[in-house]
Amino acid sequence: MQKWIEGTVVTQKRWTERLYSLMVDAEINAFEAGQFAKLALAVGGEMVARPYSFVNAPKERPHEFYYVALPEGPLTQRLCNLKPGDAISLAPRPSGFLVLSEVPDGAELWLISTGTGIGPFLSILKTETPWQRFRQVVLVHAVRHAGELTHREPIERLLGEHREQMRTVSFVSRENKAGALQGRIPAAIEDGRLESAAGVALSASSSHVMLCGNPDMVADTTAALVRRGMRKHRRREPGHITVENYW
Ligand SMILES: Cc1cc2nc3c(=O)[nH]c(=O)nc-3n(C[C@H](O)[C@H](O)[C@H](O)COP(=O)(O)OP(=O)(O)OC[C@H]3O[C@@H](n4cnc5c(N)ncnc54)[C@H](O)[C@@H]3O)c2cc1C
Ligand SMILES: NC(=O)c1ccc[n+]([C@@H]2O[C@H](COP(=O)([O-])OP(=O)(O)OC[C@H]3O[C@@H](n4cnc5c(N)ncnc54)[C@H](OP(=O)(O)O)[C@@H]3O)[C@@H](O)[C@H]2O)c1
Repeated sequence: MQKWIEGTVVTQKRWTERLYSLMVDAEINAFEAGQFAKLALAVGGEMVARPYSFVNAPKERPHEFYYVALPEGPLTQRLCNLKPGDAISLAPRPSGFLVLSEVPDGAELWLISTGTGIGPFLSILKTETPWQRFRQVVLVHAVRHAGELTHREPIERLLGEHREQMRTVSFVSRENKAGALQGRIPAAIEDGRLESAAGVALSASSSHVMLCGNPDMVADTTAALVRRGMRKHRRREPGHITVENYW
């Protein structure tokens, strides 16, 4: 049976009607940036548990989990009612393979996300590793509405610290937003708009791409990258694409 660690809610930030960051103190095992914890609450005597990526870097506390409250979601409808001081259960051991220790060396690192899938990439970007290992790092975030482009403060700070190395590209698909691309990521790979917005090459000879979020985006983007000569990365068969599906 799963053993649980009792954590404490430090605070809850509400970004939009449905997007939240839950800050938690908990004595769980160490994690690598890009990994996830399992959060759980007791519902009718049963533990309802789901994975959530760390947004904080491994050295930062409290832990931050960025989530969308889904209208019928058994766990998220409860997470969003948590208040400072409330208890929350966590699995003791974080896990996951969306981490730079699984990524081969290259010149350009592309971190491509939809919605809450930006979370693990913020954790990775707050560590030294991407800046030491890659010449250019591009953070791509696609959302439906401009208000969902959250975490501007840490992103601006990172841009200030890594002026030469870091680029960001935002997509807002369901309204016009100055400075953001419209439409979807796979189409913008096909027609070259993504590379030209970033000013960085997306190339099978020198780039590695990490994808996180909506599984349809992950599948369609992977297909677009495969058409560009890239392939999924596997330990025994090194490639260019590392993925994490959120559902
Ligand atoms: C490895 C991993 C890491 C994850 N990390 C995060 C995270 O950091 N933040 C986060 O919000 N979710 C994350 N998820 C999803 C999360 O575990 C839950 O599934 C989600 O919060 C919904 O839980 P629920 O019980 O409310 O509803 P569920 O019954 O679990 O989900 C209902 C439906 O909502 C949709 N859905 C689920 N998650 C999302 C999402 N993030 N964005 C848009 N639609 C979604 C899917 O259609 C799903 O079938 C992760 C999932 C995996 C597998
Ligand atoms: N965001 C809202 O206003 C809203 C409101 C009520 C309920 N919800 C529910 O909340 C959940 C999460 O919504 P979300 O907006 O965070 O996540 P989402 O539906 O994954 O959308 C995030 C971004 O991913 C894009 N996308 C979707 N499918 C794609 C694909 N196959 N290839 C490339 N890009 C793709 C979307 O573009 P498109 O816009 O082109 O799809 C959007 O820009 C969903 O289950 C949704 O039904 C959302």
